[in-house]
Amino acid sequence: MAESPKHLLIVDDESALREAIAERLSDHGFIVEQAGSGEEAIQRLADFAFDVLVTDLRLPGIDGRQVLDAAIERYPEIIAIVITGFGTVKDAVEAIKQGAADFITKPFQFDALLHVLRSALEQRRLKTENAYLRSQLEDRYRIDGLVGHSQVMRDLFELLETVAATSSTVLITGETGTGKELAARAIHHNSPRRANRFVAINCSAIPETLLEAELFGHVRGAFTGAIGTRQGRLEQAHKGTLFLDEIGTMSPALQAKLLRVLQEREFERVGDSHTIKIDVRVIAATHSDLARMVAEGTFREDLFYRLNVIPIQLPPLRERREDIPLLVQHFLQRIAGDAGHDRVTVSQDALRRLMAYPWPGNVRQLENAIERALAFTHGRSQIDVADLAPEIQGHAPAADSADVWFPEDGLDFEHYIEGVELSLIKRSLERTRGNKRQAAKLLNLKRTTLIEKLKRLEPGKGALPR
Ligand SMILES: Nc1ncnc2c1ncn2[C@@H]1O[C@H](COP(=O)(O)OP(=O)(O)OP(=O)(O)O)[C@@H](O)[C@H]1O
Ligand SMILES: [Mg+2]
Repeated sequence: MAESPKHLLIVDDESALREAIAERLSDHGFIVEQAGSGEEAIQRLADFAFDVLVTDLRLPGIDGRQVLDAAIERYPEIIAIVITGFGTVKDAVEAIKQGAADFITKPFQFDALLHVLRSALEQRRLKTENAYLRSQLEDRYRIDGLVGHSQVMRDLFELLETVAATSSTVLITGETGTGKELAARAIHHNSPRRANRFVAINCSAIPETLLEAELFGHVRGAFTGAIGTRQGRLEQAHKGTLFLDEIGTMSPALQAKLLRVLQEREFERVGDSHTIKIDVRVIAATHSDLARMVAEGTFREDLFYRLNVIPIQLPPLRERREDIPLLVQHFLQRIAGDAGHDRVTVSQDALRRLMAYPWPGNVRQLENAIERALAFTHGRSQIDVADLAPEIQGHAPAADSADVWFPEDGLDFEHYIEGVELSLIKRSLERTRGNKRQAAKLLNLKRTTLIEKLKRLEPGKGALPR
């Protein structure tokens, strides 16, 4: 099978040299992206899983060592080549200890670089394990099982720690699978209440008629079937944390009772008149838009404000794609560790597909996808594109800026966009074996629009295949 072209990032602040190398590398089949500074390089690396990094070690500001660190931490599979100054072999040795595949000393001939690159690629093909040790997840990117690299997640960890120190009520919102329960547990485990219980109750999983007794407990004979006296979840969480999941599904009657708990810190068991005082921190979670439910009259406004003292919003995974490599490593370690597997890595090509997929089921879906992919490797030590579920394989990375080569005199924007349109249309036609109606559906276009676009974009060709 033919090798797919390698995506390469070259980092050097000397623009003339960098551009010359970039151009020659593209002549040799690499898809090249350039960065003129360490800062820019780190930004590019966050957005895109390059196969190869070529970086000068000496850069103003963030230097090559830091770029190398960022690259290897995120992508244990990346092939990194460092460029060192003359007489600085010590730096090169350090870089290799850090996980670089090789180095080249300035000044050098282009062919020498090409040679270093090719042998590193060849070595990698033979042995896909290099640099894995460096990939071990660092503490600063996690809190109680929640991992994340992106700024939003790092801000979230800080917020969770701050909130943990208080006893305020917290409302966690976010789509399914974004980690709401994990965040609630993290708050509890970092709080002074950690020695007491974290009690979770899913309001949507318990029939409404039973939820009240489940929450508040009941006395003997309170209702048919109440044969004894029972403590509710609220009492079990005394001095600890009560996690009310899917709060949006709670009935109006129960909403009123919960409001009283939050206001007065007291309640009665079902069928009892004795009032019980309680000390509990409440964390509620929902994937629904409670503010809208308030506006529509299906959720009590006063309760909403009582719950929403500290709002915490978990962003969907597709809005923080740069967390995907780290999450993938996290799940690989966990799943492989559980099953006693050897180390398994993910090819950069597979990682690019994973980073391009929209993940409607968020982190939970990613976790399942990795588990499935592992099963498909049948003992091989690397997950490749073919091991991914078909819908994920189909998400080739968008033709985004990482693929663009900017010529000296700038690129032709209109022409470039037309190229993207044409490639999307062709790809959907390939997928549907040339069926224009289905292809149009794939792109959410009208069939006539698709045909018009084709005519405009490929005027010479007339109608396309089949
Ligand atoms: N940031 C993260 N780091 C590591 N694992 C995560 C992260 N976010 C979620 N997960 C994992 O994803 C799965 C779903 O997380 P969780 O149950 O907390 O989501 P949720 O928002 O409560 O979902 P739902 O709305 O469907 O109940 C869990 O297995 C959890 O371990
Ligand atoms: Mg949940």
